[in-house]
Amino acid sequence: MDSQQIHRGLEGVTVTETDLSDIDGANGELFIAGFPVGELATNATYEETLFLLLNDRLPTEAEYESFRDELATRRGITDETRALLERAVTEEEPPMDALRMGLGAATLGDDATAPEQKAKRAIAVVPTIVATYWRYRQGAEPVDPDPGLGHAANYLYMLNDDEPDAASVRGLETYLNTVVDHGLNASTFTARVVVSTESDVISAATAAVGTLKGPLHGGAPGPVLDMLQEVHESGEPESYVRDTLEAGERLMGFGHRVYDVRDPRAAVLSTAAEQFYDEAGDSAFFETVTTFERTAADVLAQERPDLSLETNVEYYTAALLNGVGIPRDLFTTTFAAARVGGWMAHALEQLADNRIIRPRGRYAGTHDRTWTPRAER
Ligand code: CMC
Repeated sequence: MDSQQIHRGLEGVTVTETDLSDIDGANGELFIAGFPVGELATNATYEETLFLLLNDRLPTEAEYESFRDELATRRGITDETRALLERAVTEEEPPMDALRMGLGAATLGDDATAPEQKAKRAIAVVPTIVATYWRYRQGAEPVDPDPGLGHAANYLYMLNDDEPDAASVRGLETYLNTVVDHGLNASTFTARVVVSTESDVISAATAAVGTLKGPLHGGAPGPVLDMLQEVHESGEPESYVRDTLEAGERLMGFGHRVYDVRDPRAAVLSTAAEQFYDEAGDSAFFETVTTFERTAADVLAQERPDLSLETNVEYYTAALLNGVGIPRDLFTTTFAAARVGGWMAHALEQLADNRIIRPRGRYAGTHDRTWTPRAER
């Protein structure tokens, strides 16, 4: 086959089979390894979801304990990596840049050799790199990982130097599970391209971090929180929506390339966030979140009936992560802490039946140039 037809952005192109997740964009459904996203996200720990993605089945109790312990033993970083993260602190650079650097460094000299081991190392170490960098940036000493805590609880513990309450852990666990995998999104596809050259899974994770960082992919939830906080203070959701549309700008957290209806992950995270804010006795902010969603729907129906823009995953990510105490500037790195599980599962799936990913570009340049020596140009 030598098709010259161009599929910009590879839109609509199917490049592989996968058992990891299935998206029905027309009906707003997402299945992760066979489970409806809501059922898996709210019941599983993040380790259970990882085991499922890496083994295509849920673990027994004994397997679960051993998998959890194995991940916990792979969380540490060397003094050299710590020093690198400390020296990298600036207020201007996004924490994703520190994660990209730290992930590359944290695995140098590591004793993991098999791709499966390296994949677990990448998954285990991301929260440690993020929390270490963040604490240095706050002028605080980093907190060593606690092998007695689960993956989600340990992340919060390393950020805050305080053992988190059960509701925060459950909220974060639900978030990590909800966004762990989502078809061949840009960062996951990146990871598959990297290992398709028979490079290694750590390089795949590092490249995927760079891809996730962009505002068209993982960078939206911070601006969503800014928007919600502004509206919470002003109490004027309608004028915010109208002003944004009149200025020709986009409402952050609305719209999706794949879903024609509301993103199913928004529903899961909305329920989790509502429960969280209710239990915390702090429902005023969540009321702003839901009021804004309704108001935006009404205004969009009047002003842009041609579009069907509904909330996407990032809208309720901002609400939930803010609730569980993740700082705004760590929303994208926390997305990476979840999605690294999907990246690694896809990388291993690619390696199990590999063919190098090597598409073509249709040349649109000229063929009729002749060389002129530099002095004569
Ligand atoms: N607010 C206002 N108008 C919008 C929005 C929005 N959020 N999203 C799309 N539109 C309009 C857009 O201006 C265009 O209008 P027109 O026909 O007048 O030019 C029309 O809808 C089609 O836009 P598009 O850019 O072709 O749509 P897309 O499918 O390529 O965009 C999107 C998908 C998510 C990039 C876009 O909806 C967007 O920028 N949303 C805001 C940012 C955001 O929430 N990003 C997180 C996405 S979920 C992340 C993930 O899954 O990784």
